[in-house]
Amino acid sequence: MKQRQVIIDTERCVGCGLCSRVCVARNIAISGQKAGTIGESCIFCGQCSAVCPQKAISMVGRGDGQVEKEGDVRLCPDDVLNAIRFRRSVRTFQQREIPREVLAQILEAGRLTHTAKNAQDLSFAVLDREKDRVEGMAVRLFRAVRPIAGWFSPLARNSRIDEHFFFFRAPTVIVILANDPTNGVLAAQNMEFVAEANGLGVLYSGFFTMAARASRKIKQVIGVPKGKRVAMTLVLGYPGVKYLRSTPHRALDVRYL
Ligand SMILES: Cc1cc2nc3c(=O)[nH]c(=O)nc-3n(C[C@H](O)[C@H](O)[C@H](O)COP(=O)(O)O)c2cc1C
Repeated sequence: MKQRQVIIDTERCVGCGLCSRVCVARNIAISGQKAGTIGESCIFCGQCSAVCPQKAISMVGRGDGQVEKEGDVRLCPDDVLNAIRFRRSVRTFQQREIPREVLAQILEAGRLTHTAKNAQDLSFAVLDREKDRVEGMAVRLFRAVRPIAGWFSPLARNSRIDEHFFFFRAPTVIVILANDPTNGVLAAQNMEFVAEANGLGVLYSGFFTMAARASRKIKQVIGVPKGKRVAMTLVLGYPGVKYLRSTPHRALDVRYL
C-alpha cells in the first residue's frame, strides 16, 4: 500500500463530480457514475475529500483527521480590516508568560497555513531556555559585521546593538522554518492574527532571521533540518504599550488594466 492515498468509497459515491471539479491535479474522473483516481499527479491537498457531500473520499497517510464545518465561518470584513489597520509591531513587552494553550493555538495557525504545491513544509522552533543564548549569538554576529554594513546602510550605522536588539525581552520567540520561505511568511501572518486575537503583541524579527540564515551555529542550536530555511522569526508577548490610533500609510497605488 502507498504511504499516502486517496480512497474513494464507491458504495457512497453518487458520481456528482464535485471532487473532479475541484481537483487541481486533474487526478479524478467520473466513469459509470463513480469517481476514481486516474493518475499519479495528486498533491494530496484534500479538496476532493473536503467537498464530497457523501463523505465518500478519505485521505490516508497525511496527518490528522478532518474537522466538519458547522455553519458558515465568515468574519466581519470591517473587523478584519480594522485588525490589519490597528495591528502594530510591538517592541515593549510585559514580563508575563504566554499560557500554553494560547501558544498551542498560535502554532496551530501556523500548522494549518496553506503552502505552495501543498508542500506542508513548515516547522517551528519555540525558543525558551535557548532564547538568551541564541540572541547573544546573533548580537555578536551583528556587532562583528556592523562596520561593513555601516558603509551601505545608515540604519546599520546608527543602530545600537544592545543585548536585546533582536527579541526586546519578549517572553517567547518562534522561529519558522520552511523549504520555501514564502510559506513560512504566510504562516507568520496567520500566527500573528491568532496571537493578536489573544491580546498578544508581535514583532517580525527580520534582523534575527538574517542572523540565523547567516550563522551555522545559530542554525545548529535551533535545529534547522537539511533542506529547510529560516523563513521568519516571530517575537511575542503581552504588549507593554497601547497604541491609540492607526499610523500613516501611503495612498493606494493601483492600476486597473
Ligand atoms: C518582514 C519584516 C521584518 C521586520 N524586521 C524587523 C526587525 O528585525 N526589527 C524591528 O524592530 N522591526 C522589524 N519589522 C517591523 C517593521 O519595522 C514595521 O512593520 C514597520 O515599521 C511598520 O510598523 P508597524 O508594523 O507598527 O505598522 C519587520 C517587519 C517586517 C514586515
